[in-house]
Amino acid sequence: MQEINKMKEKYKITIPAHHYESDEIVELADFVGDSYKLAVECTKTDSNYIVFCGVKFMAEGAKILAQEHQKVLSPDLTAGCPMADMIDANQLQQIFQKLNDPNLVPIVYMNSYADIKAFSGNHGGAVCTSSNAAKICKYYQDQGKKIFFAPDYNLGRNTANKLGLTDTEIVKINQDLTFTPNKNAKMYIWDGYCHVHKIFAVEQIKTLRKKYPEINIIVHPESAPKVVAMSDFAGSTQQILQAIQESSTGSIWGIGTEIHFVERLAKQNPDKQIFPLLPSSCYNMTKINEAKLTRTLQAIENGHISQYEVKVDSQYIEPAKAALQKMIEIVEEK
Ligand code: 13P
Ligand code: SF4
Repeated sequence: MQEINKMKEKYKITIPAHHYESDEIVELADFVGDSYKLAVECTKTDSNYIVFCGVKFMAEGAKILAQEHQKVLSPDLTAGCPMADMIDANQLQQIFQKLNDPNLVPIVYMNSYADIKAFSGNHGGAVCTSSNAAKICKYYQDQGKKIFFAPDYNLGRNTANKLGLTDTEIVKINQDLTFTPNKNAKMYIWDGYCHVHKIFAVEQIKTLRKKYPEINIIVHPESAPKVVAMSDFAGSTQQILQAIQESSTGSIWGIGTEIHFVERLAKQNPDKQIFPLLPSSCYNMTKINEAKLTRTLQAIENGHISQYEVKVDSQYIEPAKAALQKMIEIVEEK
């Protein structure tokens, strides 16, 4: 720990960490957050190195927004996200050609790679995260646009529900590019999913409610719409943290999101009873550990960072940055 802190100071290194990381990583981090908070906080640092403790699409986001002199590193570049892998730019291009609608705008979830974000930026769209998907989609809906949302179906569907769209106004786009055409469509949603959140089910909520009638249920919006409908609240990891922190002593919570985060919330709030809906783990987040973080910092010290450096194809940087900045502009109402 001391060694890591010394190196951080000496080489001007910032360590952001996502809420799903283990306690050992969170304790070493300069700041912890959901994917929106992490992206914004990284833009506020002037350090030479950002060693991002999270999955690759998050580190890529930091790289896209980074200043010229900043290098972004990941302690394990294989820490990916199966959901982000569920769409590529070629599929996106093809589906836009197929739909052939100049009024269609791509809103892409942060959980996607630079080529997808760049496509969004090149087509007048924006990135969104789980904390702001409704605000971003509403911004375009108010301009009379139709929305193409990717890659998470559940987040897209939960957002459409929040905006009051009906079943007949929503079209699911299958990963083989097939869909049922509908002239009333206002939102097209790609059929991707997160394996960590997909396993939450209404039965788990029913069981908890039966045992603890006064329980509050809070879930991440990557959970199924049925699960969200049965919950008291759905929000990003940062919003979940805030809800628990602001809740009264003695309150009881059932939480539907990644288990490392739920366990930390339980430890940090001993005056409340906190239960996971199910212990569901993101194995990609757990690839980042203290030993790998130490090796990454040693690589900075030795000047051999290539194994850890997050690189983004230069053709994607500007349009992906435009889509990320558009999100920040809409959220911060600048
Ligand atoms: P948050 O932005 O809510 O932290 O979500 C990121 C994520 O990957 C959830 O699976
Ligand atoms: Fe991807 Fe799900 Fe892990 Fe989030 S929790 S990084 S969406 S696999």
